[in-house]
Amino acid sequence: MTPRDLMREAEKARRHAYAPYSNFPVGAALLTKDGTVVHGCNVENASYGLSVCAERNAIWNAVSTGRREFTAIAITAREGHGAPPCGSCRQVLHEFAPNAWVYWRDGKGRILRRRLKALLPLAFQKRMLRRR
Ligand code: THU
Repeated sequence: MTPRDLMREAEKARRHAYAPYSNFPVGAALLTKDGTVVHGCNVENASYGLSVCAERNAIWNAVSTGRREFTAIAITAREGHGAPPCGSCRQVLHEFAPNAWVYWRDGKGRILRRRLKALLPLAFQKRMLRRR
């Protein structure tokens, strides 16, 4: 699965976005280690702060169906809008896949890529919960 293929999956996921408040639909496609693609979209709420991003919904979806190993995620807003993952989603992705590739589009439609750990240096991690 190429970055472009995964981005096409993210576009499919975006069709289900529920974004009546921001009018900014987002889709995400997570690629699992065994090659399965799991979709997520943003789901907003009249109580605005309860809205959840596409990337986190993709992860909740994957983990809830027994998948925890990811090699890549693609994220897309509508044409003309860049959509790098927000800080909260970086943290949630880092829990499961610090080495995963993150693909997103810039405003001109080009696919940009970084490894997650480059997008979230010095991440808070579960080992920090232990005393030394
Ligand atoms: N959003 C995402 O789904 N992913 C991101 O990485 C950035 C923002 C959503 C949240 C909200 O529903 C809308 O985009 C506008 O912020």
